[in-house]
Amino acid sequence: MGKDVIVACDFSSKEAVMSFLDKFTDCKPFVKIGMELYYAEGPAIVKEIKERGHKIFLDLKLHDIPNTVKKSMAVLSRLDVDMCNLHAAGTITMMQAALEGLTRPDGTRPLLIAVTQLTSTDQERMENDLLIKEPIDKVVMHYAANAAKAGLDGVVCSPLEAGKVHEICGEKFMTVTPGVRFADGDIGDQKRVMTPAEAKKIGSDYIVVGRPITAAEDPVAAYNRCVAEFVG
Ligand code: C5P
Repeated sequence: MGKDVIVACDFSSKEAVMSFLDKFTDCKPFVKIGMELYYAEGPAIVKEIKERGHKIFLDLKLHDIPNTVKKSMAVLSRLDVDMCNLHAAGTITMMQAALEGLTRPDGTRPLLIAVTQLTSTDQERMENDLLIKEPIDKVVMHYAANAAKAGLDGVVCSPLEAGKVHEICGEKFMTVTPGVRFADGDIGDQKRVMTPAEAKKIGSDYIVVGRPITAAEDPVAAYNRCVAEFVG
């Protein structure tokens, strides 16, 4: 599996995302489409970006009863995306059902990764709101191990957790890590950040980078810098 930079296309309309992608004339970055763009434009936006030659990580974080997730994943696999995700909190049974739904009649399927605990959930919220009393890093690793047990390909996690996830779930189990910033860039609302070079050193397989690229004066140069630092 090759390391790659995934550009988080957090735009709210087709016009905005297309005018961003139009800047990339020499390369076709792997892009992440999240809920905002998907709910605004529907499945057509996925097909259109795919037809332009981009790989797509469809970040819809499914979480429902196993049968519903299975059927929804079957629909997403027909959109020909390259990666999609769900919440590990939906249980091993839900994750196994998702994999079944995602697998196409010819046996191929998009990569499937799990969200463990959202980075917006801290120890206090997890204990008080979710009544989970274990330390959060233990919970994250337990959810990652569940995802591996269910047969998933990896997890979304902080680059700070990537090394530990590989220790517990194996080197082949992918870590997809947001929270990446250039050493001389703005941190914004991300709390715990790493540079692309640090994320590479610690063993991230994919970095997800949004604003350092989308809000840059020269997005193509920022993307190329990410690739140079992370992929080398
Ligand atoms: O702009 P920025 O680089 O912070 O974008 C990071 C992307 O990764 C956003 O799309 C954000 O929703 C997503 N993400 C994250 N932290 C997580 C999971 C997803 O920042 N734990």
